[in-house]
Amino acid sequence: MTSNRTLSVCVLSGKGGVGKSNIALNLGYCMFRGGFPLLLMDCDLGLANLDVLLGVTPEYDMQKLLDTDMDPALIAVQVEPGGFDFLPAASGVPELVEMDADLREMLFRKLSPLFSRYDYLFMDLGAGINPTVLEFASMAHVRLVIVTPEPTSLTDSYALIKVLATQHGVRDFHIIVNQVEDRHEEEVTFKRLAAACDKFLGITPVLLGGIRADKMVPESVRRQKPLLKMAPSSPAAHDLFALAVKLQRLRTSMQAVISAGPFASETQPNFE
Ligand SMILES: Nc1ncnc2c1ncn2[C@@H]1O[C@H](COP(=O)(O)OP(=O)(O)O)[C@@H](O)[C@H]1O
Ligand SMILES: [Mg+2]
Repeated sequence: MTSNRTLSVCVLSGKGGVGKSNIALNLGYCMFRGGFPLLLMDCDLGLANLDVLLGVTPEYDMQKLLDTDMDPALIAVQVEPGGFDFLPAASGVPELVEMDADLREMLFRKLSPLFSRYDYLFMDLGAGINPTVLEFASMAHVRLVIVTPEPTSLTDSYALIKVLATQHGVRDFHIIVNQVEDRHEEEVTFKRLAAACDKFLGITPVLLGGIRADKMVPESVRRQKPLLKMAPSSPAAHDLFALAVKLQRLRTSMQAVISAGPFASETQPNFE
């Protein structure tokens, strides 16, 4: 059964197109290169696109897992040999986008033996506040909320945090500010969001860090290669590496929580 070593991390945002999938992919690549096996799960069930970023054409996806008794390890695609695997979503399947509790429970029961093989489970979630996003986000040990300095990104992130806090009782959030000019812009953006969370929700989000706007990111998308692999010395790659180091420190500090299971204890799915 599970060895209870897996930290579940979800990557989420209020607004789409802020960099979630690229961040999940590249932080994942850093963890793998650091010797931590990682499963990257595409949970953007409406607009899955990690397969495109990775340049892979998966044979199967999560729909197959729900429809059959196929071993989940056969659905996962190897991104790099030795511990970087990818679990494709089923794009555009309405019952998955609006997944009910029974379906979700079945999915996670089937995936549970697979999760236990990894140090990290990264869930790349769809933008916004649909019920599946909220459920997945409240189950994870760690929530990485991706914001950009755009005012619309800030207001939508605040709305997301508010719904998770008021309707799901979630109070801990780690913020990544993407596409910043410099450290100053990172700090100003974070402070705006943190001030609203503090004032209206009584929540103190944690700044994990920032990632500079870098033309090599869209270039890596065009080439369908992780930035960290294609241009490891670019400014954004440098920032992503620093974030991975901080996330690994966070994992070390959360050993007690991790040993209770692959998801946050209060919402632990019942694997019977
Ligand atoms: N730090 C960055 N610098 C420049 N462009 C970025 C950066 N992060 C993301 N992008 C660009 O933003 C677009 C959306 O990124 P993506 O990861 O697909 O967002 P999401 O998953 O949130 O919808 C991509 O075209 C990507 O190249
Ligand atoms: Mg995405």
